[in-house]
Amino acid sequence: VTDSGTSPCELRCWVLARPSAPGLPAVEDFRLEEAPLRILEPGEVLVRTTYISLDPHIRGQFGGLPGPEAPRPLLEGRMPQLLVGGHIPGYAIGQVIDSRAPGLAPSDAVLGYWGWQTHVIARAEPAVGGAAARTGDLVLNAAQETVTRLDPAQARPPRAALHVLGEMGLTAYVALLEVGKPKPGETVLVSSAAGNVGGIAGQIARLAGCRVVGSVGSPEKAAYITEHLGFDAAVNYRGADVAGQLDRACPDGVDIYFDNVGGAFSDLAIARLREFARVVVCGAIAHWNGADDGRGPRVQRPLVLSRARIEGFDLYDWPDSYDAGLRQLGDWYRAGDLQVRETILDGFERVPEFYAEFLGGAYLGKVLVRVAAEADEAAEGTGG
Ligand SMILES: NC(=O)c1ccc[n+]([C@@H]2O[C@H](COP(=O)([O-])OP(=O)(O)OC[C@H]3O[C@@H](n4cnc5c(N)ncnc54)[C@H](OP(=O)(O)O)[C@@H]3O)[C@@H](O)[C@H]2O)c1
Repeated sequence: VTDSGTSPCELRCWVLARPSAPGLPAVEDFRLEEAPLRILEPGEVLVRTTYISLDPHIRGQFGGLPGPEAPRPLLEGRMPQLLVGGHIPGYAIGQVIDSRAPGLAPSDAVLGYWGWQTHVIARAEPAVGGAAARTGDLVLNAAQETVTRLDPAQARPPRAALHVLGEMGLTAYVALLEVGKPKPGETVLVSSAAGNVGGIAGQIARLAGCRVVGSVGSPEKAAYITEHLGFDAAVNYRGADVAGQLDRACPDGVDIYFDNVGGAFSDLAIARLREFARVVVCGAIAHWNGADDGRGPRVQRPLVLSRARIEGFDLYDWPDSYDAGLRQLGDWYRAGDLQVRETILDGFERVPEFYAEFLGGAYLGKVLVRVAAEADEAAEGTGG
């Protein structure tokens, strides 16, 4: 902090208290700590967190994953296991409250990867290379040590940078269009379709002229994707006769399976691939939250028979698509062609509890924890 006397003197921060056991993380796996804030160095800003993004991928850093999760060198490089006492990372947005950085002033909105903490002191530089990129007027920033300014004309409201106008929107856009390569009339099946990425991917498939089917975990979510997001049909993977539900929803089979979950549901989806289908492997939530029985993969015979293509996807391999993707997503979002349901939860003290509930399927759409209100929030209203 500067010595103006107007800034807080400490931050609160969630750290890992013990490695998580397999399954959903427990509240006892986390500990709330306080730490003093120091005087800002030149080039640094003090940011007050407004929203923390709840995202499945950080579950992999808490420990306790069953089976071989990934080739070890890749896993350790990209998603290292957190040490006990390590602070929980993740996407967040906030407001600058003190600045010694040119180009950033108090009340500017910024995006970063500082995670579950009330404030952060960070360098105000666009992060470059690796997991971060500047893309026109909008940004991705997955570096914990820097924050990047959000252009108020583009990221409106700023928290849209945590869903449709940021990494999650781009993931849906690039993975579906570049890897899935949808053609009008094809059947696209999306798993975790009432979630953030899945909901956006399904709507883009609809905009591409496809027939879109989503799998979800409750009748309420099934109604949400068919009545609000324009999906043609829904399958409740927690309901009875999932195979029969899939057969009825996809009577001619599946041309693109956009997989966010893995596990037993994906076995059923892959068994229904049409010839020359594509499987976009975007995530594996069922594996991460312990709902997977750990068997498999058993994809060889259906792949040979269908000559389908199965492809892992990582957004950071596609930087050349960011600019066009964010521009198109912004156009669709402002025109109302893309809907994003936000679930906004209040209470920094309850982030671990909210996170386990989120992973377990308790919430719809993009799930955010509000730590402090955005400056213009009263004027624009909130979802939830
Ligand atoms: N590859 C990349 O570059 C990249 C980038 C970003 C995100 N991703 C991945 O994209 C996927 C979706 O991310 P998101 O942020 O949009 O998350 P999300 O889909 O909103 O995740 C939460 C939802 O997961 C569902 N779920 C929980 N357990 C499940 C299970 N056992 N089987 C099926 N679904 C289950 C729950 O919905 P139900 O009630 O319907 O079960 C829950 O609401 C994640 O796997 C994420 O890691 C990949």
